[in-house]
Amino acid sequence: MAGLAVNIDHIATLREARKAGYPDPVAAAILAELAGADGIVCHLREDRRHIQDRDLRLLRKTVQSKLILEMAATSEMVGIALDVRPDLVTLVPESREEVTTEGGLDLMQNKSITETIGALQNNGIPVSIFIDPEPEQIKAAHQAGADMIEIHTGVFCEATGASQRKLAFTKIMDAAKLAKKLKTGVNAGHGLCYTTIKAFKGLSEIDEFSIGHSIVSRAALVGMDRAVGEMRALIDNL
Ligand code: PXP
Repeated sequence: MAGLAVNIDHIATLREARKAGYPDPVAAAILAELAGADGIVCHLREDRRHIQDRDLRLLRKTVQSKLILEMAATSEMVGIALDVRPDLVTLVPESREEVTTEGGLDLMQNKSITETIGALQNNGIPVSIFIDPEPEQIKAAHQAGADMIEIHTGVFCEATGASQRKLAFTKIMDAAKLAKKLKTGVNAGHGLCYTTIKAFKGLSEIDEFSIGHSIVSRAALVGMDRAVGEMRALIDNL
């Protein structure tokens, strides 16, 4: 059965919109765990637009399940990760202008990723790499020594026509199967919501889904407990 990791970045986005002390992503993480999340994800961005250093450190102290840190492959972030010691680091591309992470890391262009992976793994922190569902990226992630990949599901989630959707999903399926063949763990995420998650029925290669915006948006209206519980039920039925 696939896991559900809940990304709580957008609780911090709401707080930072007013530079207030609330809502607290740490409280959201506790509620998400109580509602059945298998892990908590946060992305400490270089510009600190949502999650702050204080959040990450408190999350490390409070999260009981598994703390997953999304971060850019920079020396600053590696230093923070080695200090905070999350249960998993997911390396993502980052640019200041983007509204959210726009695509997977391009491992063809990023040859120094092996060193970043090594620096984390040598200190006992497993590493996942967020990549597009392209065979050459999966193979490169494997060669670079990643413990896991996270398949970027954004193109599929945003696809409009049926044929575009089908093509995007086939790529995800093929990528997941190839990664499993290479004995690499497979997570998936970005843009997934209460509708798009249903497409994954029967795709047993996905170990865990990483979902943030749709859950936090629903939580604003119905509460975190119900929002996480409903997603949990959909994933349990895949
Ligand atoms: N996975 C990665 C690597 C991401 O960068 C994000 C967005 O922060 C997510 C998953 C979650 O995406 P969403 O908020 O659209 O569910």
